Amino acid sequence: MKQVTFGNDWRFSIAPMMDWTDRFCRSLHRVLSRRALLYTEMVTTGAVIHGPRERLLGFDEAEHPVAVQLGGSDPKELAQAARICADFGYDEINLNVGCPSDRVQNGRFGACLMQEPGLVGDCVAAMKAAVSLPVTVKCRIGVDDQDTEEALNRLTDSVVAAGCDALTVHARKAWLQGLSPKENRDIPPLDYPRVYRLKQARPDLPVAINGGIKTMAEVHEHLRHVDGVMLGRVAYQEPEILLCVDRELFGEEPPVADAFEAIEAYEPYVAVRLAEGVRLHAMTRHMLGLFTGRPGARAYRRHLATEGVKPNADLQTLRDAVALVSREPLESAGMVLAAAG
Ligand SMILES: Cc1cc2nc3c(=O)[nH]c(=O)nc-3n(C[C@H](O)[C@H](O)[C@H](O)COP(=O)(O)O)c2cc1C
Repeated sequence: MKQVTFGNDWRFSIAPMMDWTDRFCRSLHRVLSRRALLYTEMVTTGAVIHGPRERLLGFDEAEHPVAVQLGGSDPKELAQAARICADFGYDEINLNVGCPSDRVQNGRFGACLMQEPGLVGDCVAAMKAAVSLPVTVKCRIGVDDQDTEEALNRLTDSVVAAGCDALTVHARKAWLQGLSPKENRDIPPLDYPRVYRLKQARPDLPVAINGGIKTMAEVHEHLRHVDGVMLGRVAYQEPEILLCVDRELFGEEPPVADAFEAIEAYEPYVAVRLAEGVRLHAMTRHMLGLFTGRPGARAYRRHLATEGVKPNADLQTLRDAVALVSREPLESAGMVLAAAG
């Protein structure tokens, strides 16, 4: 397969996740991989236009490449929001056509837009006209009783005609009635071949696949069929997987060797945020998945959950938590297999 990479490199990205991929989380992930493309949480156009912009959109230079995900369906508002985000320095504007929550459906955006491909095309065209950044879409393969061949083709045709630079497809339907957003990430069955067929039909469109991908072996397998892989929950819950990304996918040395070094590399960032008045917990809550499978990981988590949440928690609190983790090489303890299992 011809892999197409222009604009951003979509080979590997970390999914937009509300309440999870905030700036503190992204900065942690950046310490583990220089090359992963990072996505913000979804921000609605209303919030971008009328809300506290610096708090919603501000990010650290080190986070690049970073894409902002917008939620909305009014082309004019999306254009205005895209312009604001471009001024903030984002590398890409992504439109959410995949979120199934009720709140989002009432606002007529997110996954229900799978039923309005023409409108999504208008949204993309308006954003493309407003900014010179890549404009991308994250969608599902369909919603409810839609035929997934037709629904995804129609959406793709419409956004490609509007100039969409890349499409990330969560390879399952969203069921708009009766399932919670969480259930909508697990219950509708995955259909990876549908996404592969889209790529075959559209060789010039960068297509990334998302949903239920758990290991680097799976990432490699998907990359035989599509241009990019987006990881969500696994990247968040077991962030050490990101240590494999730069070497395995980009042929570059990872920025740090392990989670211990990652935390050391993250410390200066934490120190600056603490000095700004950010609570330690705002950062350490994203670090609970580090050290999974290592002796002491549970004590580390417990320390962060009890001491790390206190108002006066500081870098020493984090160091004390890390000191509870065994530094014994995993291989020597026969832990690699145990951890993997
Ligand atoms: C806590 C959480 C919040 C999410 N928020 C968003 C969001 O804001 N925008 C979006 O497009 N998808 C959102 N998603 C969906 C993910 O981007 C991704 O599509 C989904 O988790 C499937 O990928 P995974 O199986 O690798 O986790 C969210 C997922 C989780 C777990």
